[in-house]
Amino acid sequence: MSQTVKGVIARSKGADVEVVDVVVPDPGPGEAVVKIDACGVCHTDLHYREGGINDEFPFLLGHEAAGVVEAIGAGVTEVAVGDFVILNWRAVCGQCRACLKGKPWYCFDTHNAKQKMTLTDGTELSPALGIGAFIEKTLVAAGQCTKVAQADAGAVGLLGCGVMAGFGAAVNTGNVTRGDSVAVIGCGGVGNAAIAGAQVAGATTIIAVDISDEKLEQAKRFGATHTVNSKAVDPVEAVRELTGGFGADVVIEAVGRPETYEQAFYARDLAGTVVLVGVPTPELEVTLPLIEIFGRGGALKSSWYGDCLPSRDFPMLVELYKQGRFDLDAFVTERIGLGDVEAAFAKMHGGNVLRSVVEL
Ligand SMILES: NC(=O)c1ccc[n+]([C@@H]2O[C@H](COP(=O)([O-])OP(=O)(O)OC[C@H]3O[C@@H](n4cnc5c(N)ncnc54)[C@H](O)[C@@H]3O)[C@@H](O)[C@H]2O)c1
Ligand SMILES: [Zn+2]
Ligand SMILES: [Zn+2]
Repeated sequence: MSQTVKGVIARSKGADVEVVDVVVPDPGPGEAVVKIDACGVCHTDLHYREGGINDEFPFLLGHEAAGVVEAIGAGVTEVAVGDFVILNWRAVCGQCRACLKGKPWYCFDTHNAKQKMTLTDGTELSPALGIGAFIEKTLVAAGQCTKVAQADAGAVGLLGCGVMAGFGAAVNTGNVTRGDSVAVIGCGGVGNAAIAGAQVAGATTIIAVDISDEKLEQAKRFGATHTVNSKAVDPVEAVRELTGGFGADVVIEAVGRPETYEQAFYARDLAGTVVLVGVPTPELEVTLPLIEIFGRGGALKSSWYGDCLPSRDFPMLVELYKQGRFDLDAFVTERIGLGDVEAAFAKMHGGNVLRSVVEL
């Protein structure tokens, strides 16, 4: 038997989001219904609302969430009823060419629920990133539930998207290690998580670059050893000066724009690594001298979801959080209700909100 619960949808491009009744089917084979405790408001939810991802309106928004498994479908062995889980948007298949090569974090065939959640008139909803978690209960593929130790859902739910992407950009994609110098361009939720990841990995110089002094002040709390306001000074020169004239071993771009990518490219040491974790819009282009790409060597990488493996990385990061070595609480700027998502979108442009978190 299905159940009807309250959820937040974007009905059409640009329209204010609405709290409506959503019909959630019972879990079928390989599926689970999760009672959501908390879900962060991510920039990607706003992108969906603005029509920037695709046109499959109406969307059920929300995707950075933690909660408790309420019911499981036939054949589910990954999780059990009552498990406290963080939802992930890359449930690996185990069978595609990436998985078979032993690189499941690149999985090209990740799983979502097969059944659809609907409005009461039967209209099918498109869940954001295959999750849809601004809702009392959601239907996902069981593999999208990653069991972790009980902790504050508002804080650890953030591991489901932006915080994992940033942390993993540094630690998994950038392979930051002890003694490294790291520069992070763009210090929002993702960039600050990259800073925290670099600190956990043992980087000794961590340079935060942003155009907002407020953001740079926050970055210190996550482990930045130096800050650079790129509105005031040339960030490439500044990073070189702070690294003995050479550039950083790893530069992480967490904005997703050509000018900041170019800064990342030139702010890195010879044979260093650039990691692009910021997501560009389709029309953006970069032009770089090919001789510089050759002559500087090293690696130019992109980071999808921080190249994470939820089953490996979520429990580890929750453990670091519980030990006080990874300050997830510092990402939570405010706790709000289901009806406050539109207001949270407005605050995203304000400058000092890292994450608004919806609590249910
Ligand atoms: N790769 C992934 O899997 C993944 C996952 C989640 C988010 N993202 C992307 O990461 C990016 C950052 O997300 P967020 O949630 O941290 O966003 P955010 O809006 O919270 O932060 C962006 C930061 O960049 C700064 N900034 C803007 N223009 C700048 C410039 N020219 N130079 C320096 N700093 C500048 C802003 O002041 C802000 O602090 C977005 O593009 C988002 O879509 C990627
Ligand atoms: Zn796969
Ligand atoms: Zn997100």
